[in-house]
Amino acid sequence: MGNSITIKKKIKSYNKIINVSGDKSLSIRWALLASIAIGKSKAFNLLNSDDVKSTLKVLSSLGVNIYKNQNYCEITGRGINGYIYRKNLELNAGNSGTLARLISGLLIKSPYKIKITGDKSLSRRDFKRVIDPLNKFGANFYPNNRCSLPIFIKGSKYIRPIDYVENKGSAQCKSLVMLASLLSPGTTKIKAKKSRNHTELLFKKLNIPIKLKSSKNYDFIEIKSSNFSGFNYKLPGDISSSAFFIVLTLLSKNSNLVIKNVNINPSRIGVITILNKMGAKIKFKNKKTYMGEKIADIYVKSCKNLKSINCPSYLNSSAIDEFLIIFLVAAKARGISKFKNLSELNQKESPRLNIGSQILKRMGIKTVLKKDSIKIIGNPNISLNSSFKIKNFYKDHRVFMMCVIAGLVFGGNWKINDKDSIKSSFPDFLRKINELKK
Ligand code: S3P
Repeated sequence: MGNSITIKKKIKSYNKIINVSGDKSLSIRWALLASIAIGKSKAFNLLNSDDVKSTLKVLSSLGVNIYKNQNYCEITGRGINGYIYRKNLELNAGNSGTLARLISGLLIKSPYKIKITGDKSLSRRDFKRVIDPLNKFGANFYPNNRCSLPIFIKGSKYIRPIDYVENKGSAQCKSLVMLASLLSPGTTKIKAKKSRNHTELLFKKLNIPIKLKSSKNYDFIEIKSSNFSGFNYKLPGDISSSAFFIVLTLLSKNSNLVIKNVNINPSRIGVITILNKMGAKIKFKNKKTYMGEKIADIYVKSCKNLKSINCPSYLNSSAIDEFLIIFLVAAKARGISKFKNLSELNQKESPRLNIGSQILKRMGIKTVLKKDSIKIIGNPNISLNSSFKIKNFYKDHRVFMMCVIAGLVFGGNWKINDKDSIKSSFPDFLRKINELKK
């Protein structure tokens, strides 16, 4: 079938230096902020994925001018109150939860109802987490009581600032409130369980009036509205895309990999902390700071003696997109790995906690799955030779990539459907795998 891939051989050992494509969270944030800046902004190495393409399309439907060539993307910002609202506007966020949720924060002054839609996977995801805070700002959603896409949002002339407590550790919830605060008079106050802080770092760099304090588990944010100028951004590589190659290398024999110029923001590198606790010796070299973000080259090599982990839940948010691939490492590790308080994992592009468990089980790995936790009984001698057909995973890009890595390191005869899913976050994924084989 055209849109599936077969994997029949383990990958041979390699010694390579690669780049991965631009960070998805930062690419979407750059585009959204550039669209409400004053003047022009340019992005270099912007991720060229469907989630980012959906973002640019949505912005252009709101009257934003966008120019793209081979080297950069340029957005002419319209200022914080500059979107052009047409009647019967429909904004399609495709597969992107980040886009659907963050753009909603910027629509709270729309004079007309705007329909927000998404693909099948996005349409089953929770939108109440968007509706609740934006209702408090003064925006309305229709039909009443609907908590998922498609949904209509209508803004208000009478927007007021809010006090908001974010308890899930969701950067999307925190960020959508931060964006809405730019359209609101007065001071918006947020207490948010720790999560990726790219939006905060960008606000600071853009001189938007923001106050930040933090305790062990929470960040306290205060924002006052202000216009800001356009800005250029050179996107670093995505740690979430890198994670597939990090694990491929760890679980292959006699291999070494350097991944250049990756964003290693401390709120994103739970995966590295977890894998190093399991015995990997992943290192960051050539560290620098750019636009408030930490960037480094990642050095990883094969690891023979991986051990299980009792994963502390404070790492959950900083590794939320990497658990599927971490589960593969747990499958091979000596001992029983435990991951808990992971209900958010079932809220992703697919119910990843359940799907991850199902895939491991099919590989002969024992798991104990509960509503929000999983135990994985590792088998250091795992080697597969049967056939696996992987389908019906909500076209979740990270499930697809997890299965490719499983086939390449554990063997077996894999047929994995929905290859196009990688276009959401990492269209170059299979080309990068082929680079390692040359
Ligand atoms: C993201 C936040 C995370 C993450 C997603 C990207 C972001 O979602 O899973 O891939 O860019 O803010 P949650 O905020 O729902 O945890």
